[in-house]
Amino acid sequence: MSTLTAADDTRAPTLSVPFADCWITEPAQAAAQDVLASGWVTTGKESQAFESEFAAHVGADHAVAVSSCTVGIELALRSLRLPAGAPVLTSTMTFCGAVHAIQHAGLRPVLVDVDEVTGMPTPATVARAAGTCEEKPAGLVLVHWAGDPLDVAALAGAAGLPTDRVVEDAAHGLGSHWRGAPVGSGSAVCFSFYATKNLPIGEGGMVTSDDPDRVAWMRRARLHGMSQDAWRRYLPGGSWRYDVAESGLKANMSDVQAAIGRAQLRALPDWQQRRAVLAARYDDNLRGVPGVQLPHRPEPGAGRHAWHLYAIQVGGGARDDLARQLAERGVGTSVHFIPVHHFSHFAGLVPPGGLPGADSLFERLLSLPLYPRLTTAQVDHVATAVVDVIEGALR
Ligand SMILES: Cc1ncc(COP(=O)(O)O)c(C=O)c1O
Repeated sequence: MSTLTAADDTRAPTLSVPFADCWITEPAQAAAQDVLASGWVTTGKESQAFESEFAAHVGADHAVAVSSCTVGIELALRSLRLPAGAPVLTSTMTFCGAVHAIQHAGLRPVLVDVDEVTGMPTPATVARAAGTCEEKPAGLVLVHWAGDPLDVAALAGAAGLPTDRVVEDAAHGLGSHWRGAPVGSGSAVCFSFYATKNLPIGEGGMVTSDDPDRVAWMRRARLHGMSQDAWRRYLPGGSWRYDVAESGLKANMSDVQAAIGRAQLRALPDWQQRRAVLAARYDDNLRGVPGVQLPHRPEPGAGRHAWHLYAIQVGGGARDDLARQLAERGVGTSVHFIPVHHFSHFAGLVPPGGLPGADSLFERLLSLPLYPRLTTAQVDHVATAVVDVIEGALR
């Protein structure tokens, strides 16, 4: 009997260069199998080991494994114990989940505009947003957008905040460095292991921190606020007693995810190198093409891009047409991001004077495929298609 349905007839043709790829290596698949066979699948020794190995990888003192980056941002914000409804600044050029996290933590998001070239908030846009708050901002969520590292200290200063009031959204930032320090060595840095991220597990996240008190709080709060997780209760000599001192979340990571993460982490240095090679190849192919601006990156010596995304800017209102024609040629693309104030849920957050930098940048953004299994021939194919379409439009 056929397993095909009528819908298969109308499905889009398979893209020859899909936008994204989720590579779960064979060792990672085997590690997951081992955990499944072990009889212990929830948070346990694999999660603990993943936390230690991940912390070492990003130069952090501590790491707390969680179920997603979104919930990691919420936990990091909650661990600041800010007053309910306090204003928290965040870039509008980010993923909606980061702004939901502020709301779910009982705080009030205040949107910050970005530079229309770099896509990042600047000291001036942060100070302007801070000036719109009736009370002093209580926190700042900063995204290392596309893997391009931000100057956290400068932006915190512009908000009038100490750096421990910054929650870094490093969903794109695994592998970024700023002034010699890996992103991850700050006081609350949240990573994503979503299927398309630089360290894909499928789902999952990690919060790294240099503050042992916040770490202890987040460890409890990620599992209902319980004073002892199941692993500790069921260890030989463990006790079934525990306390619940506050309202926690259900946001722990399973050992299956952690085992995949540990194995994937071993591949990460090679993957990061590969991303940099592929980004340089796009640069070589696209540099000087009229109407195309290459992705922003740190000045030499200032930092290192993680190349989560290769997001070009396409001028002259040509972005949508380029995306459509690339799709016709078998190339998948995406846009990161639709500024959050364009969504109906957040429309009420637009400040007087609007967010013109983000509005202008959004019209031009186009993310091209970038992942370790992409071949250089595929990069050349994508870049040639971009050049053909653009030159065709100019003809
Ligand atoms: C910048 C940014 N922040 C946060 C998230 C949320 O990550 P997660 O799916 O792990 O919650 C994403 C996911 O795409 C993202 O791109």
